[in-house]
Amino acid sequence: MFPKNKVIFSGIKPTGELHLGNYLGTLKNWAALQEQNKCFFSVVDYHAITVPYDPKEMPRQVLDIAIDFLATGINPEKSVIFVQSHVPEHTELAWLLNTITPVAELERMTQFKDKASEQQTVGAGLLNYPVLMAADILIYHAELVPVGEDQYQHLELARLIARKFNNAFGEYFTEPKAYEAPVPRVMSLLEPTKKMSKSAGAGHCIFLADEPEIIRKKIAKAVTDEGGGMGEHISGGRNLLQLFKVLSGDKVLKQQLDDQYRAGELKYSEFKPLLAEAIIKLLEPIQEKRKELMSKPKEVEKILRSGRDQARLIAGKTLAEVKEKMGLT
Ligand code: AMP
Ligand code: TRP
Repeated sequence: MFPKNKVIFSGIKPTGELHLGNYLGTLKNWAALQEQNKCFFSVVDYHAITVPYDPKEMPRQVLDIAIDFLATGINPEKSVIFVQSHVPEHTELAWLLNTITPVAELERMTQFKDKASEQQTVGAGLLNYPVLMAADILIYHAELVPVGEDQYQHLELARLIARKFNNAFGEYFTEPKAYEAPVPRVMSLLEPTKKMSKSAGAGHCIFLADEPEIIRKKIAKAVTDEGGGMGEHISGGRNLLQLFKVLSGDKVLKQQLDDQYRAGELKYSEFKPLLAEAIIKLLEPIQEKRKELMSKPKEVEKILRSGRDQARLIAGKTLAEVKEKMGLT
């Protein structure tokens, strides 16, 4: 059943352009969820600075992600949209939650291990990243968190932190659950054994801002074979078909293509242009809205300020209650 009357939180890091994986893995859900739920959507800049970054680029990156939220249909009249660092209560709660989070749990996180292996020195912020994420969610008593599959492990940890707090200081936090997207894991176009990710390079992703000609070229080059015989799960062709299935409303065509795929008879020379056009059609209105918003940065900033004020009201109340429970009055 589609969620109703729930509190929902999600965030995206301002670390570069958003791609189809971000959209289908999480953002697409947000606009639908905001209709009948209380939604909080945040540009999580304090998470973005846990790996090396360029401070000069950060303000523009934050604004860009906020614009993407709005361009994909998040409505500031219905949802609270804000920048994480504008609500200092998140970091204060994160400190408190740090005290009950086992280091071993943090060291076990796949994302931590992956990112730490890419760096010579690993900042403590990278290790503590999931504690801040738990604080982001718990501070609004969020029940559902729409994220892609790569974040499920962090959510599991947020649940553990909530439980530990409740056990130590009395029943208080709700245990949040992941809200799964239609495509929780969109795979790379060139290496379908890996998830679509901007760090792999532009050819691996369709960016939300890609022009039609670029989209046609990227899809034409997408790998379709079975990726070394490890089965359907990682087939490039299956990934493309899955994308088409969520983008097209044509049930008959979807069934036909599915049958052809299963029989090993899908003609990619015919199917790929269909997929490219479906993506172009999806992105056209988003790109148009994006252009319009780019020319009105002041308006976007105003939305973020209003979001901050709404968020702080709730976050401040939670923080005060938590401190009281912890004996910090
Ligand atoms: P990131 O860009 O890594 O901050 O991710 C932002 C959101 O997009 C998170 O909810 C991720 O789980 C989701 N996401 C990122 N890449 C993918 C992907 N390839 N497939 C599905 N969801 C994704
Ligand atoms: N860790 C998430 C990611 O990499 C971003 C994030 C931070 C988040 N805080 C959150 C997502 C809270 C959902 C809820 O994509």
